[in-house]
Amino acid sequence: MSYRKRRLKIGIVGCGAIGGGIARYISKELKKDCQLTGLYDIQYGRVEKLRRELSAGPIGRNSLTALLKSCDLMIEAVNANSTREIVREAFLHKRNVIAMSVGKLLDAQDLFDLARRRGCRLLIPSGAIAGIDAIKSASIARIRKINLTTRKPLNGFANNPYLTRKGIDLAAIKKETVLFKGNVDSAIKFFPQNINVAATIAIASQAKDKITVCIMTSPKYKNNSHEIEIVGDFGRIVTRTDNVVSPENPRTSYLAILSGMQTLKQFCQGTGIGT
Ligand SMILES: NC(=O)c1ccc[n+]([C@@H]2O[C@H](COP(=O)([O-])OP(=O)(O)OC[C@H]3O[C@@H](n4cnc5c(N)ncnc54)[C@H](O)[C@@H]3O)[C@@H](O)[C@H]2O)c1
Repeated sequence: MSYRKRRLKIGIVGCGAIGGGIARYISKELKKDCQLTGLYDIQYGRVEKLRRELSAGPIGRNSLTALLKSCDLMIEAVNANSTREIVREAFLHKRNVIAMSVGKLLDAQDLFDLARRRGCRLLIPSGAIAGIDAIKSASIARIRKINLTTRKPLNGFANNPYLTRKGIDLAAIKKETVLFKGNVDSAIKFFPQNINVAATIAIASQAKDKITVCIMTSPKYKNNSHEIEIVGDFGRIVTRTDNVVSPENPRTSYLAILSGMQTLKQFCQGTGIGT
């Protein structure tokens, strides 16, 4: 039995691969614990398509404010530059938030403080990587170094302006090649499509300056993989995920969608497994 007296009302901003996946999960698996009360996307056609697929009532909202009025918890799953403003607006309305666009929340202490002042919870799923639970534990003591190695197929880097500037021709790459090695801030600047993973590690570890990011490609790679090595007072951890990509958005790993679903499930059911 749920620990709540009534079902939690959920609003989703962004009806793409992640938002759509979580909406389907709510309507199939979480009906006892929560109900979908709002969908919002700047492409309104996506809202209607998803609403019809779910055979839902009039839950399409035509503004962020209307969405926030309809829910207790907002799930942010947009690919926008305005993520911070969207999350801030949710806290100003005293709504809890599950945020998927973690890359936009790096160095966002002001938002974390606002959530606390407004009595709201901000939940950041582990996303496409393993080991966030252990990194959080390790951060209580000293972390000496974190290495993140991201491997993606060549087409994961198509039209990347940084590679063009560097004169790197993806078509000419015939073997495993390091495209970038450096700190989190530079990785975010030059490879914005990889920022979520690096940002989640940085926020969880509170040790951004100890992180080295290495980005590799090869004609032989078929999936996105993320390998993390953490060394600290606790010892050493190595994790690796080899991720199947979402059929709806090849830049998004299926595990990231599942991670959002699990975070919502735990919040609704009042459990918290893992650190
Ligand atoms: N945490 C992780 O590990 C992880 C992994 C993959 C993706 N992500 C992030 O999650 C977010 C969503 O990913 P996705 O694969 O579902 O993207 P997607 O492109 O499939 O869908 C995003 C949707 O957001 C909508 N949108 C854009 N700007 C908006 C705005 N201002 N207001 C409302 N809707 C808006 C778009 O129209 C689109 O329908 C992205 O920021 C992505 O980088 C996080």
